[in-house]
Amino acid sequence: MTARIIDGKAIAEALRTQTATEVAAVQAHTGITPHLVAILTGDDPASAVYVRNKQKACEKAGLKSTLHRLPATTTQAELLALVAQCNADPTVHGILVQLPLPPQIDPQVVLDAVHPRKDVDCFHPENVGLLTQGRPRFLPCTPAGVMHLLESTGVKTAGAHAVVLGRSEIVGKPMALLLVQKGADATVTVCHSRTRDLPSITRQADILIAAIGKANFVTADMVKPGAVVIDVGISRLNDKLVGDVDYNAVAPIASAITPVPGGVGPMTIALLLRNTLTAASAVK
Ligand code: GUN
Repeated sequence: MTARIIDGKAIAEALRTQTATEVAAVQAHTGITPHLVAILTGDDPASAVYVRNKQKACEKAGLKSTLHRLPATTTQAELLALVAQCNADPTVHGILVQLPLPPQIDPQVVLDAVHPRKDVDCFHPENVGLLTQGRPRFLPCTPAGVMHLLESTGVKTAGAHAVVLGRSEIVGKPMALLLVQKGADATVTVCHSRTRDLPSITRQADILIAAIGKANFVTADMVKPGAVVIDVGISRLNDKLVGDVDYNAVAPIASAITPVPGGVGPMTIALLLRNTLTAASAVK
């Protein structure tokens, strides 16, 4: 078997086109242009690339985007003051504080300060709580992007055993929540660094989602033949971008697999635009 390659770039583009149509409809009905503010603190080169891509995607879909660039020496109080200013600005619908933040700033304090109705990353405890209860206001961008990829590829999650590798707040935990919720109906196992005999569990997966940030960690012996493999990881190895999955070894035994780059990555941005549209649509 050679796996079907799940084309995240094409699926994300289709979703962004749909979002652009809905943005135009909101503008026509309300005169409101959805507006995302991104705050980039410090000089992390990868973050600068992510933020630039988010801005470009906003502009292409007809959303307004504003970037605030702050120096690496910014204090927590200064960043909190900017977040408060964006919270109070009625022309701003979504606020994205790009992570990581410089070491003098506690990311939890800053993320908790973002107004929950403008929290398009879905990081605020109120939004995580709503998601946990199955009544989400926003969807967590990367996990919701993975769900959209599965749906678009025709992968049935109901009754499937989904194994999530990684328990991060951004991907692993919310990924498990989306898979187990009513409608998705997967049986979910979450594995992490203290999991015993990991390969024996990953080999049970009908759907294997890797989100640990370790290059080429998932090897062929960890994958059941015919499994759907979703690779959320992205690492730089010898100047090449690679995922958590040893793609060349796993692709021949999987039924479908996401490449890195061009798999999950573009979906995250597409879902961020949708959340910004949701936030703008909720404005009364
Ligand atoms: N840094 C890496 N991924 C993300 C993300 O999804 N949101 C934010 N705000 N920062 C990130």
